[in-house]
Amino acid sequence: MAEVRQIVLELLAQLGSSKEARQYLKEFSSVDETRFAVVKAGGGILRDHMDELASALSFLHRLGLRPVVLHGAGPQVDEALAGSGIESLRHDGLRVTTEAVMAVARPVIYDLNMQLVEALEQRGIRARGIQHGVFRCDYLDREKLGLVGEIRSVNLEPLRSAVRSGALPVLTFLGESNSGQVLNINADFAARELVWAVKPHKIVFLTPSAGLLDRDGRVISAISLDNDYQALMNEPWVHSGMRVKLQQINEMLLKLDRSTSVSITSADQLTRELFTYRGAGTLVRRGESIDFDVQPTAEKLAMVAEQVEVSFDRKLRSGWAAGLEKPQLLMAKSQRAAAVVVNGLEGTPYLDKFVVTPDAQGEGLASAMWQVLNARFPKLYWRSRNINPITSWYFHQADTSYRKGQWVVFTAGIDDPELREKLIQDALVRDPGWQESPR
Ligand code: ARG
Repeated sequence: MAEVRQIVLELLAQLGSSKEARQYLKEFSSVDETRFAVVKAGGGILRDHMDELASALSFLHRLGLRPVVLHGAGPQVDEALAGSGIESLRHDGLRVTTEAVMAVARPVIYDLNMQLVEALEQRGIRARGIQHGVFRCDYLDREKLGLVGEIRSVNLEPLRSAVRSGALPVLTFLGESNSGQVLNINADFAARELVWAVKPHKIVFLTPSAGLLDRDGRVISAISLDNDYQALMNEPWVHSGMRVKLQQINEMLLKLDRSTSVSITSADQLTRELFTYRGAGTLVRRGESIDFDVQPTAEKLAMVAEQVEVSFDRKLRSGWAAGLEKPQLLMAKSQRAAAVVVNGLEGTPYLDKFVVTPDAQGEGLASAMWQVLNARFPKLYWRSRNINPITSWYFHQADTSYRKGQWVVFTAGIDDPELREKLIQDALVRDPGWQESPR
């Protein structure tokens, strides 16, 4: 096992750095075995990306991680129904499940479940198909919907048993009534109930689009619901499918620990998403609160100083904090992000330091910080070195930029060109507070 783990770690190192991989492996291994992740894959993924799915899951298994897999069969059932000439109606997005529909759907679902288990076992890892005994249901609306279940309780014992014996639990969207009648359950409802019962650290939705897309069709890297939810819901380009997804995720996360995150990605990007800071897909979290401090204590500033030193790999002068002019501080709850704003030229706020740890950057904490910063300081100027990787990101946050030598000076919300000119000159000659020589 140790040997396999080593090989796997080396493989992971190729994705990012082995440091990142190790950090996440440690994080994911620190929660209770069954609580690492719930992975939901729609039927379309099993149809078009079975190989990628099986290899990503078996990879996790080799690392000693045991995701709970929940898979659908929508397109396959549609196809089978069409093939047997049975009309398949939908009501409020739910499949009306007559006995004839169930008779066709059930074997298709079992078959897919078996296929996925087989694909995993062929890769030399253990998997257990669990088709029953997890979702205890009542009829949702027997008259209208037929054999469709509404989940009353979730029994985790079958999947715990699988995990105890070293196998990946592979679940379907079928449940049973009290009397044992098999009922069809809507995929989103099942995922939600399962997630609430398992309380996993990670929730993974596998989609062909590999994430939620913005207005230009690009994958949105991170969403922090506390900061972005309302704004996103007001965007006209957030169309119905995405709107529903966001609502569901929001509802889901509200009942879980703040450390829980949802990753929306594709099967072939899953490893990259899980084991790198930047990820590959969309990471959704509730976010963390950001405290605003108008008179930060020396202790707090010392803490920020330390973060700044680590992140820039340079030492600040010992009197740095004391020399700041009316410093104000923004700091994220986890202390992985901070911004120090001082009184600049003519009282204009100058952003003296801005630090976000790399893992927090991947979670979108830099953007979340910036939103708060922008709300507190609609007028702001700052500078950054050309070579600093964050500089390219600042261009998107600023209204104007001015390059000179190694510096780029940025301003936001400063409309007066004369003042802007003075601020630029001021920024260029500011004392950065470093000790003479780099460490
Ligand atoms: N690897 C981390 C995780 O899975 C961070 C992923 C960041 N992903 C992103 N799309 N920004 O929790």
